[in-house]
Amino acid sequence: MRADRPDRRIHFGGDYYPEQWPEEVWAEDTRLMKEAGVTMVTAGVFAWAKVEPRPGEYDFGWFDRVLDNLSQAGLRVCLATMTASPPPWLTRLHPEILPETADGRRKWPGGRQHYCPSSPVYREYATRLVERLATRYAQHPALEVWHVGNEYGCHIRQCFCDESAADFRRWLRERYGTVEALNEAWSTAFWSQQYGSFDEVLPPRLAPTFANPSQQLDYWRFSDDALRQCYLAELAVLRRVTPGVPVTTNLMPHHKPVDAFEWARHQDVMSLDFYQDPYDPDTHQGAALSFDVMRSARGGQPWLLLEQAPSAVNWRPRNSPKPPGAMRLWSWQAIAQGADAIMFFQWRQSLGGAEKFHSAMVPHGGTGTRIFREVSELGRELASVPEIAGTRSHAGAALLTDWNSWWALELDSRPSTALDQTQINRAHHRALFEAGVACDVLPPWGELSGYRLVIVPNLYLLGEDDARRLEEYVEGGGHLVVSFFSGIVDGCDRVHPGGYPAPLRQLLGLRVEEFWPLDEGASVSVQGAGPLGAVPGSGVTGDLWSESIETEGAETVAVFGDGELAGGPAVTRHSYGSGAAWYIGTRLEPAALRGLLDHVREEADVRPVLPGLPARVQATVREDDEHRFLFLLNHGDGEAVVRLPEPMRDRLGPDGSGPVSTVTLPPRGVAVLER
Ligand code: GLA
Repeated sequence: MRADRPDRRIHFGGDYYPEQWPEEVWAEDTRLMKEAGVTMVTAGVFAWAKVEPRPGEYDFGWFDRVLDNLSQAGLRVCLATMTASPPPWLTRLHPEILPETADGRRKWPGGRQHYCPSSPVYREYATRLVERLATRYAQHPALEVWHVGNEYGCHIRQCFCDESAADFRRWLRERYGTVEALNEAWSTAFWSQQYGSFDEVLPPRLAPTFANPSQQLDYWRFSDDALRQCYLAELAVLRRVTPGVPVTTNLMPHHKPVDAFEWARHQDVMSLDFYQDPYDPDTHQGAALSFDVMRSARGGQPWLLLEQAPSAVNWRPRNSPKPPGAMRLWSWQAIAQGADAIMFFQWRQSLGGAEKFHSAMVPHGGTGTRIFREVSELGRELASVPEIAGTRSHAGAALLTDWNSWWALELDSRPSTALDQTQINRAHHRALFEAGVACDVLPPWGELSGYRLVIVPNLYLLGEDDARRLEEYVEGGGHLVVSFFSGIVDGCDRVHPGGYPAPLRQLLGLRVEEFWPLDEGASVSVQGAGPLGAVPGSGVTGDLWSESIETEGAETVAVFGDGELAGGPAVTRHSYGSGAAWYIGTRLEPAALRGLLDHVREEADVRPVLPGLPARVQATVREDDEHRFLFLLNHGDGEAVVRLPEPMRDRLGPDGSGPVSTVTLPPRGVAVLER
């Protein structure tokens, strides 16, 4: 990771909380870490109260010994800035840093992350600590990467206190300049909301009815920015004191309060915490989407899986352990999708506190346990293929998503409140994933020229500029698929004038006259020859949404088969320039969406990584000038046989075994093959 340390390896380890244990245990920790193949640990995440027991009084002695102990064992440290959970003295001294909910209730200390992101007092104490920390450990040989904060926005997504209100007003002044511009942007002529000055503006606190949607949208933006300002304040200190050390912060998967694309611009390496749910048979598909976001957010650069559970978590209503082989499979899935580190929460299972029933690499039962055996086995395996680190993947398809659009889409007072951005994204991504197609995930302003297929699941908010770029993309020969309720509003949640979806009408060759969302549990039949005919059975169904579409140059590929819109277009295709733009006016059942996207893919010549893969087997490629790795992952319950395009070496197979042409994967089996 550090440019001045060009050692190539997949890092392996976990969150390490030595402060929860007597010092006698620390020597055993490093011994066991070596035994388990650990190369790096994350340390200090919740150590604030212990390193600064009283305001301005520091006790780093114990932490020096922690780092020295790790470094003597040859371990690297992902060093946390310790600011994720303010110590009790701070909230006693400054109760005003505590966050408030939209209905004015205070969130008290006693858990963690109990600070208002806009609080200057919090930021001051936090950066003061970071300054000390960075200065003290700048030259420490263990320091590999900085870990700022922890899961920003995990517990406090938005704060509505007076400090936040003041900060919001400052943010709005910067964004709009004049109160007239704000009034215009927020459409305040409606419901007598016109502001005479910025001083009158409040956060969208609990109101008698729908709060102004543009105000709500801006509050999502502002809150994301307020969290980021906490990160940036710490980053500025780290850049100054330890300029050569890379910086990251662990994001949560597809996490609404935190715009991963924006945050990516301020990190040296992306990192993600992902907790696969053993009770969800499709957990790996949700993970696949998040992993694709991580890889794409910094242009294909490898990322770090900074937290996952060795087995069960403690925070779902019912917490299943990971069955044998699942932890290995899901770890390899992250690597297959571009991760260069596999880390866990946490190293040693706590005896007390809220997470004592969360699994750890060293469980309550010690090392003679399945978990420790599986962890150590994985550590050995990862160490055997260090050349994977740094390799990259290439995708022919891209899926577009945008946090701004997500925030706007899910506000109240819409045609339907049942639209869920995560579900819609997942449905489209899944159709590619199941077809074995590599996919990047980009914001609408991302570079599209390298992709032959671009999918827009549901971009409700779309600026004219980005719409024009989509047009140029298709004109130049690109293949585009747009799903319903896209291109409806501008960046202020104001409807684009000129009929829906105005900025995309010419490109799609159609006009949407009325939205016709479907009632809960209702569905509509969709009939079409050609593309949808590829789906077994003649008619298919859509649910959630329908709309009355009038074509203006597009050809109708499928029509609604019943209901008020019977006979009207449901799926269309428009040849535009040297490319084609498809439009889907309902939520197609999964098999039909898959059939349609398979068809468009063929037109676009976007092929799966490996043709003829058995169901529930994932295949990805990572490569560089010297190596080309093919990863095969069996997410299914049965054995799967995969024929390789050419004989390849099985890098996880027995030492000295020759090239193979066929791979037999047991359930949860993994193979890493090299040409
Ligand atoms: C998150 C946090 C960790 C821990 C784990 C438990 O990822 O970052 O501190 O609470 O969840 O799953």
